[in-house]
Amino acid sequence: MNTQLLDLMKHRRTIYDLGKNVTIPQADLYEYIKAIVKYTPTAFNSQPVRVVVLFNEQHDQLWDLTGEILQDQVDADAFIRTKAKMSTFKKSFGSILFFTDMDVVKAYADNPKIATYQYDQYNWSEQAQGNAQFAVWTGLEENGLGVNIQHYNPLISAPVKAKYKLPSSWQLRAEMNFGSVEGTAKDKEFIEDEKRFKMFK
Ligand SMILES: Cc1cc2nc3c(=O)[nH]c(=O)nc-3n(C[C@H](O)[C@H](O)[C@H](O)COP(=O)(O)O)c2cc1C
Repeated sequence: MNTQLLDLMKHRRTIYDLGKNVTIPQADLYEYIKAIVKYTPTAFNSQPVRVVVLFNEQHDQLWDLTGEILQDQVDADAFIRTKAKMSTFKKSFGSILFFTDMDVVKAYADNPKIATYQYDQYNWSEQAQGNAQFAVWTGLEENGLGVNIQHYNPLISAPVKAKYKLPSSWQLRAEMNFGSVEGTAKDKEFIEDEKRFKMFK
């Protein structure tokens, strides 16, 4: 068996301790992320995933903004932890905002020719998100970077969309940090294979 992909998948982990010690040019990273998302499969080839990549002060501002929004949502004690988290995220090299264009999802859901799949279209857009996020995550780690994924949506969705003047149909689905690897991944346990997999032959 060829295990190149599996080896990359095993290498992909959540890394919280990220830094700015990255030598790959930002323009190359942007092109790479674009290509990965472009070549990720989607239901009916609907391509509902939209991506915004943030570097430098734009990246810092994402986590400043998130901190400001969370300050109004959590009590003072919890905010100390939140603030620490935000400063950890800010230390990474950049971030990727993943959106779903709900106009695309709606167009497919409303298409009478594929009415049978009406209620699957949103789920499939989430699968498109999963495919794209996993591919970007694994691809960045193949290039020696570390990655973590966050979900401060929907709390930050409206201000982020306003800041970057994004279309109203774009629904924020995830925020992914990436940067140089400055720490190790946590231990990870796996459910027994017998509980998850079956084979019949
Ligand atoms: C769909 C999805 C949502 C996740 N959401 C978060 C999140 O909001 N915050 C976070 O710190 N990690 C998040 N994670 C990371 C998972 O906790 C992590 O992938 C899992 O514990 C396995 O660890 P590993 O990535 O090191 O293999 C998410 C992962 C996935 C796939």
